[in-house]
Amino acid sequence: MATTYRAPRGTRDLLPAQRRVFAHVEAIANGLAERYGYRQIDVPMFEQSAVFERGLGAATDIVEKELFRVSPSRGEEKDKLALRPEATAGIVRAYIEHGMHTLPQPVRLSLIGPMFRYDRPQAGRYRQHVQWNVEAIGDPGPGVDAELIELALRFYRDAGLGDVEVKLNTIGDPVCRPAYVATLAAFYRERADRLALADRARIETNPMRLLDSKEAATQAVNREAPLLWDHLCDACSEHFAGVRVHLDVLGIPYQLAPEIVRGQDYYRRTTFEFFRPGAEGQQDALGGGGRYDGLVELLGGRPTPAIGFALGLDRVVNALVAGGFEAPELAPVAVVVGADPAATAARLRIATDLRAAGIAARADLGQRKLGKQLETAARDGAHFAAIVGDELEAGQILLRDLPAGTQRSVPLGDLVKELTRASRTHRHGGD
Ligand code: HAM
Repeated sequence: MATTYRAPRGTRDLLPAQRRVFAHVEAIANGLAERYGYRQIDVPMFEQSAVFERGLGAATDIVEKELFRVSPSRGEEKDKLALRPEATAGIVRAYIEHGMHTLPQPVRLSLIGPMFRYDRPQAGRYRQHVQWNVEAIGDPGPGVDAELIELALRFYRDAGLGDVEVKLNTIGDPVCRPAYVATLAAFYRERADRLALADRARIETNPMRLLDSKEAATQAVNREAPLLWDHLCDACSEHFAGVRVHLDVLGIPYQLAPEIVRGQDYYRRTTFEFFRPGAEGQQDALGGGGRYDGLVELLGGRPTPAIGFALGLDRVVNALVAGGFEAPELAPVAVVVGADPAATAARLRIATDLRAAGIAARADLGQRKLGKQLETAARDGAHFAAIVGDELEAGQILLRDLPAGTQRSVPLGDLVKELTRASRTHRHGGD
């Protein structure tokens, strides 16, 4: 039996109807990025693994368990590259490499592209997913923090997702966080026997991640956990208050959520995630982000404040499709058909001329009877069929209005003009 091949586990093909919804969502993201002054950038889909190990933190799940390491079979880069699990570290690497600190700050950047995580595949969780990343590098905030949250919410609204909620938190900075982490670790140590087994090891490695646990037993303990909000240093406290003032001025409601601690080590101060009301498990986050004031320096640049977000576009597309959203296909204005099924060259030449003149046209190149050709043209939603027949010798072609069922003979030389005029009135709802 012949082998059948399938897309790798955790990946999916986007067939045209779904790809069109993706394109709709990408167009909204790109349009908003332009309107808000975030310029497009692209960085490679793979980097030296160290960019992620150092940038995101070697002990994070994303690096420790989910990194797709790329292994060229030879050369000095053998085993040293990895597919990007996210874009922020690569964008910061590019910011440093190209000396973008000499540009007016902040540098506002936008990137749409695939990310790769060797995650356990499940609904809405893929091994290749597409993110829209927006980064503002070089602004200490707090105004830009609110600007980004407002931008993300506008995106969801414009894309057609309706209400999306933002959960907001601050995770402090190297001044105030260490003392809090020590307090939190001591709190969990005293209650270790009440924590879910899977979570106990994290008490010593990363106790803040326990705040985000999905385990019911740990969640019960978390209800009594000390809050970082009560341990912030003055600067972090002032920053958080500033973010909230700016959000209030913009009229943006938010939920304060101490569990939004994020999965990368580079975050400081502001963190946030976006959810659809009623779908509040972390794996359902539509997007998230926060401030990463230490990352530029960590990757070899000068100390630079920065903040950004990434929105998972697969999850947005899935939610739109589940809600019945369809991105209509652009129907051809005209299909060139013919009385002589074999005369494909004449049909192709006329359709080519129409397309050269900017008209969406197709030629029916199948050798089927005229009736079948007309049927297909109508099914494809074409407004006109241009019928090639014996009149072509006299420089005439039959133009049939498919929905109206009427037809008339027009000079071939006038076909572009006729179709342009007719399609214009058609598009404006005339006729
Ligand atoms: P993240 O929270 O790891 O943040 O990912 C952002 C979003 O990407 C998630 O909220 C989710 O919607 C989507 N996503 C993540 N993993 C998957 C997956 N396996 N399948 C489908 N969708 C997924 C970041 O990546 C940060 N770099 C965001 C950021 C930018 N922070 C500052 N600047």
